[in-house]
Amino acid sequence: MSHHGYCIWLTGLPSAGKTTIAHHLGPLLRASGWNVEVLDGDEVRRGLSSDLGFDRTAREAHASRVTYVAKVLARNGVIPIVALISPYASSRSRARSEIGRFVEVYVSTPLAECERRDVKGLYKKARDGLIHDMTGIDDPYEPPERPDIRVETIGRSPPESAQYILAELERLGWPVRHGATGA
Ligand SMILES: Nc1ncnc2c1ncn2[C@@H]1O[C@H](COP(=O)(O)OP(=O)(O)OP(=O)(O)O)[C@@H](O)[C@H]1O
Ligand SMILES: [Mg+2]
Repeated sequence: MSHHGYCIWLTGLPSAGKTTIAHHLGPLLRASGWNVEVLDGDEVRRGLSSDLGFDRTAREAHASRVTYVAKVLARNGVIPIVALISPYASSRSRARSEIGRFVEVYVSTPLAECERRDVKGLYKKARDGLIHDMTGIDDPYEPPERPDIRVETIGRSPPESAQYILAELERLGWPVRHGATGA
């Protein structure tokens, strides 16, 4: 089954580190012979999901579009690395059942630290009442109860976080080297 890819799905609060880690993990897997595609929530929102807002229905639709693309890539030998807040457990579990070969990675960063990082300034805007439906502030985030991999980002650099995920993938039996046997 080594010609099949598998989906690495990064979930976590805004500013948790999903995009940053995806772009460190991608090159590690490419260096091991895989074709990798990073599916970043923001990027997909600029294209495929440009018609969608941030209410529950829209977030679910966004996740299901990303799921479809990831499924198509994974069954064609690519590793899609999804970097998506994906706040609802139900959307993530649908992604798992639809894609099949699926690794849920919880990018675990406490809200206070995410707010301190505030990469896009959105936490501040939400606290100031300038925007609404901000995940973690006035919109829910349902943390995974049993993620396949949990990466704590405090006390680890982004490259260390990517290396950690790679080691965990290997430990769980996912093929980290293209052509190697695994889960
Ligand atoms: N171990 C780590 N892993 C990832 N990012 C880290 C880590 N330590 C610190 N950071 C910093 O945290 C920030 C994470 O921002 P990033 O844009 O990756 O978050 P995100 O989860 O993609 O957020 P959003 O959902 O808003 O897109 C970056 O500035 C990054 O440098
Ligand atoms: Mg991001």
